[in-house]
Amino acid sequence: MADKSTSTKAPAHVAIIMDGNGRWAKERGLPRLAGHRAGTKNLRRVIRAAAKAGIQNLTFYAFSTENWKRPEDEVRGLMALLAEFIETEIQELHKEGARLLHIGHLDGLGPTLKRKVEDAIELTKNNTRINIILAFNYGGRDEIICAIKKLIEEGANADEIDVERVSAAMFTAGIPDPDIVIRTSGEQRTSNFLVWQSVYSEWFFPQVYWPDFSEEHLLQILEDFGKRDRRFGGLSKK
Ligand code: FPP
Repeated sequence: MADKSTSTKAPAHVAIIMDGNGRWAKERGLPRLAGHRAGTKNLRRVIRAAAKAGIQNLTFYAFSTENWKRPEDEVRGLMALLAEFIETEIQELHKEGARLLHIGHLDGLGPTLKRKVEDAIELTKNNTRINIILAFNYGGRDEIICAIKKLIEEGANADEIDVERVSAAMFTAGIPDPDIVIRTSGEQRTSNFLVWQSVYSEWFFPQVYWPDFSEEHLLQILEDFGKRDRRFGGLSKK
């Protein structure tokens, strides 16, 4: 991967809701899984574009805790695509310095797939070029519930609980909150994604289905992000 070429500071964390695979396929008279396959292929191009732009953390919402409601063959197909993505991409990503992380629950994916993801995480654990955070079998509300349980198990007292302590109990502990959340396809919903972490994220809703989301779209968003006035509840510094 080439190094960042511009002088503007890249956001530390970009998170993406990869929406529109089904509509992309439908418009081409293809089965929904063909859209997911095209979407999986696009991960590769967006990861490389993000690394080139200097983004340190890149999260992909690939399978939500609610996606189990989809037809069995679609669920099975998404699991197979995750396995295929790891088999075909992980060695190259590893060579390029990418570290794979996972948020959500690996239990429920089946022992072989779980092992595959764990092995990829282990293989890449010392890489520092970019973190690829895969939200798979992930839900924001579920994450908050898990954090509450963890705090109770740790015996935390009420007066010790603050934003830092809760953040440290999340699946995303140690990862900065997303500066940018992108949802492709034009839909404008959060859909249970990074509920706790995205409170001050800048949201973008490009009118493009995920398989067609390109480096140009990403660069345009980074440029627009640079013009936004982030106040975090305070007053403008401009
Ligand atoms: C939303 O589009 C997309 C998903 C629920 C799945 C996203 C998954 C991938 C891109 C591939 C699997 C990921 C990995 C890591 C291999 P949709 O199907 O809801 O689209 P629609 O709204 O147009 O129907």
